[in-house]
Amino acid sequence: MDHQLIIILDFGGQYNQLIARRVRECGVYCEVKPYHTPLAELAARKPIGFIFTGGPNSVYETSAPHVDPALFELGVPVLGICYGCQLMAQTLGGLVTAAQDDSAREYGKTLTYYDGASKLFKGLPAQGISWMSHGDYMARVPQGFALTAHTDACPNAAIADEARGFYGVQYHPEVDHTEYGLAMLRNFLYEVCCAKGDWTMGDYLKSSVALLRAKVGEGKVLLALSGGVDSSVAAALLDRAVGKQLTCVFVDHGLLRKNEGDEVEAVFGGRDMSFIRVNAEDRFLAKLAEVEDPEGKRKIIGEEFIRVFEEEAKKIGAVDFLAQGTIYPDVIESGTGDAAVIKSHHNVGGLPDYVDFKEILEPLRLLFKDEVRQLGRELGLPEALIMRQPFPGPGLAIRVIGDLTKDKLDTLREADAIFREEIAKAGLDGAIHQYFAVLTNLRSVGVMGDGRTYDRAIALRGVTTSDFMTADWARIPYEVLDRVSGRIVNEVPGINRVLYDVTSKPPATIEFE
Ligand code: XMP
Repeated sequence: MDHQLIIILDFGGQYNQLIARRVRECGVYCEVKPYHTPLAELAARKPIGFIFTGGPNSVYETSAPHVDPALFELGVPVLGICYGCQLMAQTLGGLVTAAQDDSAREYGKTLTYYDGASKLFKGLPAQGISWMSHGDYMARVPQGFALTAHTDACPNAAIADEARGFYGVQYHPEVDHTEYGLAMLRNFLYEVCCAKGDWTMGDYLKSSVALLRAKVGEGKVLLALSGGVDSSVAAALLDRAVGKQLTCVFVDHGLLRKNEGDEVEAVFGGRDMSFIRVNAEDRFLAKLAEVEDPEGKRKIIGEEFIRVFEEEAKKIGAVDFLAQGTIYPDVIESGTGDAAVIKSHHNVGGLPDYVDFKEILEPLRLLFKDEVRQLGRELGLPEALIMRQPFPGPGLAIRVIGDLTKDKLDTLREADAIFREEIAKAGLDGAIHQYFAVLTNLRSVGVMGDGRTYDRAIALRGVTTSDFMTADWARIPYEVLDRVSGRIVNEVPGINRVLYDVTSKPPATIEFE
C-alpha cells in the first residue's frame, strides 16, 4: 500500500487510539507502534511524520520509556504530546523536572495562549481552552526550540523547533475538550509534514481489492458470517475481490433478532460468492433445553457453533484461506512491550483448529470501527446493516433469563422489535449505543379488559458508552418509553408489564446474563 504514513509511537497514554482516529479523520493514514519498535523498522516504512503519545511515566525516572535519539536525525518531523513532548525535550538536551505546586502542574481545562507565527497554530485564534494533564515541567527547553504557547501558570505549554519540524505540546490536542485541537493536528500533518490527504475510503477499497486479488490468486477463501458489521463488511469486500472463490457460511442458531437471518440472506444470497445458510435452530435449542446458567449457555452455543461450522467446512473441503473480520482495535499493540493480543470473543474462538486451511486473511485489520462502516458504505451495503448495534455472539439466549424455549424467544423477538422500531422512529438510534429487550423470569398480576392476567415482564435496557467497559443508562424520553410500553403489552401476547433498567455499569453489566 503506498499511502503516506504517520507513525504514532505509543508510550502508554490513554488517548493513543484517539490520536490515530483524528489523524485518519484528517485524511492521512497512520499506524500505532510500540515505543520500543526498532528504529530501522520505523525508518524502513518511510513515514512523513511521527507523533509521540502521552504516557503515565515521568521522563526522569530511570525505568521510563525512551526512544532512540537517532530518530531525530532522520529528517522527519515529530509532534510530541504530553509525555512525548517532555521526552523529546529531554532527549534533545532539555531538562524536565517534577512541577512545584506553585509552578506548572496542570490538569483539566486551561486557558492557553498561542503564537500564531508557529506553523502548528497557523490560522487559529490567539487563545483557547486546552486539556492539560501533566505533573512535570520543562525547566529548560533544548537549544533551537522556541516557546510557542503558554498558560497563566506555565511558560512553555508548547515548544517548537520550526527549522527541524519538531513540535511539542503539554496538552492533548486530540481530545474534544481542547478547542482547535483537531486544527492543530491538521496543521502538523499538512503544514509541517506536507501530507497530501491521500487516505480516502474509495482509494482504500480499490487498493484492498487489488491486494486481496494478488494474495488470494486462484485460492479458495472461507468466512464465517455472523451478520454483524465486521464480518459483513469483510464478506462484501472479499466478494468484490475474489467473488466465486469465496464461501460464506452463515450459521443461523435461531437466537437472532426478528427477521435478522432473512436480512442477512437478502444481502448476501444473490452474489457471486457461495453463500450457505445453515438453519440450526432446532439443534441449538435441543442442546440448550433446560440450561439456566448464563455461562453454561455461552459454552454450549460456542461449542455447537464450531460443530456446525466444522461440518459445513468438511463439505467444502480444504481451503487456502480462512477470513476473519478482525478490526484494528481488536489488535492491541501495547506500549509496554507485549506482543499483539487478539480479543478472543470477537470471532468464534478456536475456529482455526477445526478447519483445514493454510493461512488467515484479515482484510479489515487496519481499520477502526467507523472506517469499517465507511468501507461498508463504499461497498453498497444497506445502512441498517452498517449501523447495526453490537450484538452478542450467544444472541437472545442471554436475553431470556433462565431456561430457553422457542416460545420465549419468539415473545422476546416481538418485544425487542417494537422497542427498536420506536427508538428509530424517535430518531434516537444514533444516540443510544446499545438497546434491547430482555424477557425476565418475573411473572406478575395484571388486569386486561375484565380479566386478571398472570404474565411475564419485559425489561428494556438502553445504554450510552464509549467503550462498553463502563456505561450509563440512556435517558430515553418518557413519551418514547410510554409508546414502547403501550405497544408491547398490547401487541405481544403473554406480556403484561414493562420495566426500564436505570442501572449503570458498574455495578450492573450491559447484558442481564
Ligand atoms: P456486558 O454485559 O459484559 O457487555 O456489560 C459488554 C458488551 O459485550 C457484549 N457481550 C458479549 N458479546 N459474546 C459476545 O460476543 C458474549 O458472550 C457477550 N456478553 C456480552 C454486550 O452485548 C456488550 O456490548
